[in-house]
Amino acid sequence: MDALEMLKTRRSIRAFKKEQVKEEELRIVLEAGTYAPTAMGLQSPLIVAVQKEEDVAKLNELNLEVLNRCAAVKKDAKPYYGAPTIIVIFMTKIARNEFVGTLDAASVTTNMLNAAHALGLGSVWINRAKEVFEGEEGKKLLAKWGIEEEVVGVASIALGYPDCENPTPRPRREGYFKIVQ
Ligand SMILES: Cc1cc2nc3c(=O)[nH]c(=O)nc-3n(C[C@H](O)[C@H](O)[C@H](O)COP(=O)(O)O)c2cc1C
Repeated sequence: MDALEMLKTRRSIRAFKKEQVKEEELRIVLEAGTYAPTAMGLQSPLIVAVQKEEDVAKLNELNLEVLNRCAAVKKDAKPYYGAPTIIVIFMTKIARNEFVGTLDAASVTTNMLNAAHALGLGSVWINRAKEVFEGEEGKKLLAKWGIEEEVVGVASIALGYPDCENPTPRPRREGYFKIVQ
């Protein structure tokens, strides 16, 4: 796909087929993340792709718990919309401070969303990774995945094959950019 066309047609996808994402496609998405710009080129984030069914289910459960702290959501709601793969993007101690660590993680996340779309995969950025991995259950998952370093959840991505049409974007906000010449 033409790069500019790809950037403009990427939309958040919230309905996924059950079929698992092929490893070669997942690797392309993850690698695209690693080529995102990061402050001082430090490549500070840690990217974790989760495909194990029980861990995907646990992440849905923990994310929903956080969601329910501020909004009453249906008990069986799936914050990752049934996506078979979840990618979590963490900030690590490599980042010089929390601000750039967060920006680095966001940069990596955006690259992966765009790469997913370029491959015909569906994806959506999902919030609340910070709270999930601050909690005891989230920490247990990190231990289970062999992540011993100190990390902070910044973002996550629901990834899979879309089971819906590509949504139409809202019109762009008037005055979104300005050229000063
Ligand atoms: C920081 C951030 C957090 C988001 N969190 C969620 C989320 O938790 N759940 C969700 O369904 N979409 C989430 N989104 C996706 C936005 O709702 C979506 O990008 C926006 O509505 C614009 O739609 P588009 O991605 O199709 O252009 C998030 C996006 C960003 C950038």
